[in-house]
Amino acid sequence: MPNLATRATQIRPSPTIAMNARAAHMKQVGRDVIPLSLGEPDFHTPANVKAAGIAAINSDFTKYTATDGFPPLKRAIIEKLLRENGTRFLPEQIVVGSGAKVVILAALMSVVDAGDEVIIPAPYWVTYPDQVEIIGGKPVFFATTERSGFKLRPEDLKGVLTERTRALIFNSPNNPSGAVYTADEIRALADVLRGYPEVWIITDELYEHLVFDGRQASSFVQVAPGLADRIITINGFSKGYVMTGWRLAFAAGPKAVIKSMGDLLSQMTGSPNSIAQAAGIEALLGDQSFIKTNQEVFQSRRDFVVKRVNRIPGLSVSSPSGTFYVFINCGAWLGRTSAAGRKMNSDADVAEALLDEAGLAVVPGVAFGSSPYFRISISLDVDVLGLAMDRLESFAAALLATRSVA
Ligand SMILES: Cc1ncc(COP(=O)(O)O)c(C=O)c1O
Repeated sequence: MPNLATRATQIRPSPTIAMNARAAHMKQVGRDVIPLSLGEPDFHTPANVKAAGIAAINSDFTKYTATDGFPPLKRAIIEKLLRENGTRFLPEQIVVGSGAKVVILAALMSVVDAGDEVIIPAPYWVTYPDQVEIIGGKPVFFATTERSGFKLRPEDLKGVLTERTRALIFNSPNNPSGAVYTADEIRALADVLRGYPEVWIITDELYEHLVFDGRQASSFVQVAPGLADRIITINGFSKGYVMTGWRLAFAAGPKAVIKSMGDLLSQMTGSPNSIAQAAGIEALLGDQSFIKTNQEVFQSRRDFVVKRVNRIPGLSVSSPSGTFYVFINCGAWLGRTSAAGRKMNSDADVAEALLDEAGLAVVPGVAFGSSPYFRISISLDVDVLGLAMDRLESFAAALLATRSVA
């Protein structure tokens, strides 16, 4: 076989998808595994949204649309951005794509040249560094700490900006930490960025609706309108509207970058799925009450899990403000030996031991650039989460009973 392109040898498959696949395989061969690695809500797409998709099929709305998005969906997006974020956009400032993943890639392709630096605060969504590398950019990480609530502070940002920085990837609410930046915290970062006019801000606001305790997620461009000519807002339908499989997302930003993203997407994926777009209009303009219901369910699961985890010897977690993930500190387990004799020197070892010995699929912090942690998803019924907590507890008890060789 002829050689593959160098690029093909550099791409790593998504570690979260890989963990889900391993858990699914173990289940298939009869092992009892609780998939705490899931990256999607366990609810279903709201009935009115599904009905809009079905109606689209029945009315033969099944052909290509405009490659940058069906105009009525763009109008619905503009209405959403005004209604929820107080921001005003023109249709030429909106591009629709087949899921946030490819829309973020199109944004990076539009603003980052080979060798350009892209700042990625850690912990980060696993895909950002790989996408930056695919296009020849250089990811520059800044490890935020639990002490700062896993948030990038202005002084941290100042320390990593250089004359080669072309973009900052900002993600709030954050996957995996669940951190949600306040408007003041975003404003403070914007103050720093004002001094770096060549830097783009790619802000991934996909989990906007998944916030707890009455919070509202702040949109970067709403807080820092003075930087609007270099902010690319990414948002979509996957998480908040429970539409992961429909593959629909959008970006809002300056006309030139949005045109470039539309051109790129038209060459990569063509027009987004017509049926999903019809459903997307209903999602944005129809009944929104399920957003609150979903928030309440996730919030009560979060409270349950955080309380249980904090009672488990060697584990600790601070309560996340949003998303459906809980990012657990397992530092006190490192150096210890599991009941099956596995020496756990890293969070990857912990994840491996939990999968093999406790039947729990979790994603190690190293996948998100932050150790020693592991991420669990609370996208499971509270009874199943309870069972998962029982297993964690038993694993910890067995662990502590073994003699540490550390
Ligand atoms: C922070 C973040 N951004 C983007 C995505 C991708 O979303 P989509 O399914 O719309 O491609 C995900 C999915 O897990 C995510 O967690």
